[in-house]
Amino acid sequence: MTAKPRLFSGMQPSADSLHLGNYIGALLSWKELQETHEAFFFLADLHAITVPQDPTALRENTRRTAAQYIAAGIDPSRSTLFVQSHVPAHAQLAWVLNTITGFGEASRMTQFKDKAAKQGNDAASVGLFTYPILQAGDILLYQANQVPVGEDQRQHVELTRDLATRFNSRFGETFTVPEAYILKETAKVFDLQNPQSKMSKSSESPAGIVWVMDDEKTTAKKIMRAVTDADASVTFDRENKPGVANLLTIFSVLGERSIESLENEFAGRGYGDLKKALAELVTSILGPIRTRTLELLDDPAELDRILAINADRASEVAEATLAQVYDRMGFLPRATLR
Ligand code: TYM
Repeated sequence: MTAKPRLFSGMQPSADSLHLGNYIGALLSWKELQETHEAFFFLADLHAITVPQDPTALRENTRRTAAQYIAAGIDPSRSTLFVQSHVPAHAQLAWVLNTITGFGEASRMTQFKDKAAKQGNDAASVGLFTYPILQAGDILLYQANQVPVGEDQRQHVELTRDLATRFNSRFGETFTVPEAYILKETAKVFDLQNPQSKMSKSSESPAGIVWVMDDEKTTAKKIMRAVTDADASVTFDRENKPGVANLLTIFSVLGERSIESLENEFAGRGYGDLKKALAELVTSILGPIRTRTLELLDDPAELDRILAINADRASEVAEATLAQVYDRMGFLPRATLR
């Protein structure tokens, strides 16, 4: 039997709920890919501290995000679901990779530039700057073949590939060079109020983000109020009708239908009909996930136990890679005391 290809991905537990972009751009494909891959999914809490955070909220959000992964269909007895800070090798490998990353190379990361500009350049931390290098370490520790993410993470996976290739050529074959797995149609879900920008935790318009943990009424209201255009025809035109194109994309992915069949169904009908049908679909999917998440959160000790078992599983793989890296770097092994 040949080994299944390895998969690695994760999210930052930086809010009390995931949003529809995270669900469509990442979770949906994770759920499917865990069937055919040996999958590792983690909660990137070390990444979450690269912007100012509240310690109590981070702890709580880490559990909440783990519960949402499970509620959305990630099976922790099949996929390894763990917390980044439970596996110290992440921070250790990041340090090594820092030393083979160029300053100019790191300066070209567009997500850093965006986030730093938001905070004001003087307020941005060195941790925010080296964030993509920590991310590269996450992926390389598990020798992942594929990294399923949304479009906004493509550049970080490219950097990971460059660092893996560089390390391998300087120090000998050590890392698998991973590939980004990005589905074209789900790569980017846009903000409902501002359909030129991606749906994002840090968005300025709360009405533009659909949270997985929102109640059904709130979700339906947000969809009914989504920005469209004055044209009133349900056709897919990303350039000229970005609001409608976004609604059609969400509908098509969640309803597993082609855009064309939706255009046909809603031809000659107003945007109200489209939004109403979409609101029903979205709430029928997110509603049960929210309910299940709340059930899981009722038993935090059990959740913590699952995360601990999975951290052990993750550590085994991560430690083996790190030991090889340390050896290749020329670190003196620590002697075993008798
Ligand atoms: P994060 O927490 O910002 O986002 C988690 C996942 O959701 C996707 N995503 C979207 N997809 C479509 N439309 C959107 N509007 C949208 N918004 C977010 C993201 O592309 C991502 O897949 N740096 C990562 C976390 C990370 C990581 C890793 C990921 C740390 N180390 C190693 C993969 C492998 C991040 O901030 O994701």
